Amino acid sequence: MTTASLRPRDRDALIQSLRSGVTPRVGARHIQVGRTGEIAALDKDLERIAEGGASFRLIVGEYGSGKTFFLNLIRGAAMERQIVVAHADLNPGRRLHASGGEARSLYAELMKNLASRTKPEGGALNTVVEKFITTALAEARKAARKPEDIIHEKLEALSELVMGYDFATVIAAYWRAYEKDDDTLKANAIRWLRGEFSAKTDARAALGVREIIGDAALYDQLKLLARFTRLAGDKGLLICLDELVNLYKLANPQARNGNYEQILRILNDLEQGNVEGLGFILGGTPEFLTDPRRGLYSYPALQSRLAENPYARDGLIDLSGPVIRLDNLSRDQFGQLLGKLSQVYQGAQPQRVLLPDTAIPAFIAHSEQRLGEAAFRTPRTTIKAFVGLLAVLEQNEAADWRVLLEQTEMEADEPRAVMEVSDERASFTL
Ligand SMILES: Nc1ncnc2c1ncn2[C@@H]1O[C@H](COP(=O)(O)OP(=O)(O)OP(=O)(O)O)[C@@H](O)[C@H]1O
Ligand SMILES: [Mg+2]
Repeated sequence: MTTASLRPRDRDALIQSLRSGVTPRVGARHIQVGRTGEIAALDKDLERIAEGGASFRLIVGEYGSGKTFFLNLIRGAAMERQIVVAHADLNPGRRLHASGGEARSLYAELMKNLASRTKPEGGALNTVVEKFITTALAEARKAARKPEDIIHEKLEALSELVMGYDFATVIAAYWRAYEKDDDTLKANAIRWLRGEFSAKTDARAALGVREIIGDAALYDQLKLLARFTRLAGDKGLLICLDELVNLYKLANPQARNGNYEQILRILNDLEQGNVEGLGFILGGTPEFLTDPRRGLYSYPALQSRLAENPYARDGLIDLSGPVIRLDNLSRDQFGQLLGKLSQVYQGAQPQRVLLPDTAIPAFIAHSEQRLGEAAFRTPRTTIKAFVGLLAVLEQNEAADWRVLLEQTEMEADEPRAVMEVSDERASFTL
């Protein structure tokens, strides 16, 4: 992958997020280093999903080690394979299991962020539904059959799943709206699919369905949607959930266990091959996984399922289990990363060399001196400083990188304090 294929707008977005210390979404693959084995493993998962299978992975890494970055890369790769993706960060108001609306809220966030190759920025739910209709119309034309027969046949495949009858009813309503050019009905169908109806009576009046999407329906709805994307001509659905540490922070053991039980249910379901075209990838810190009191390991059935292979340590890896551990970037990889950043930056000014190659080892030595091995362990601040240096060099022809480097101060990137979420209503205590 060369930086030549990076569009100027994407390049600016990439640089902007690196400078502000936000994990880049656009253009991430242009600065990607290492993780070859991990990417290959996930690529196989994506292939399995695209073939109608399922997969479950938990990406575990220390604070700042690159979990979100990795999730973003996989999301991009999934879209390229024509898999629809949805991502969301968990937080006190968004959980996998809840009774106060937090699971519905997670579902709504996922739907808002639903993205596909043609709609990479999100908001792809409409597109998927429209695609289902146009795909069915094209099939009907080809087979010289009535469109509604094709549509009903396809929807029958959904009816056998939990909540499938209502899902199919909503899609059928969208089809009627499509035929009659009824924008209100269309909008109501989309609202239902996004989990925006809060009263059953309203949903029944608008669409003739009995149910609405509540907390308990989260996973079943995602399964339905996965099947639906395939009926629409896409290859499946990948759900990326980040910041799983928020479940570990739940102080109420019942609330925590409810969420862990849900994770177990999803893991079992996906690994037993009961599910078509659906993958889950979750990002979390090591304590979220292994803490015996509050982590996933506190739930015995999960501990045995997620226990790491004791042989896979000291540089040896095993990527066949559900847990993938992201090691910290090595010094070499970090050097490569700075090289790529420099190239991305240089992209705008090919005629002028902003930073000679020799500056990279000097920059690494400087960071190591100031921060110790934290310079590679949590690259965020170091990257920020490096991009800041490039920015000044770009704008000041007379500036000397050696002088600037000497003046570069860096602060270690420390994890945020773990705050507990004390009760179901998600208030904070220290
Ligand atoms: N494989 C990689 N190649 C290039 N850059 C990377 C890689 N991994 C991480 N980075 C860089 O490190 C930064 C921090 O990574 P990221 O935000 O993904 O960490 P994290 O593990 O999600 O952190 P947190 O625990 O705070 O959520 C990213 O913004 C990215 O610039
Ligand atoms: Mg992160």
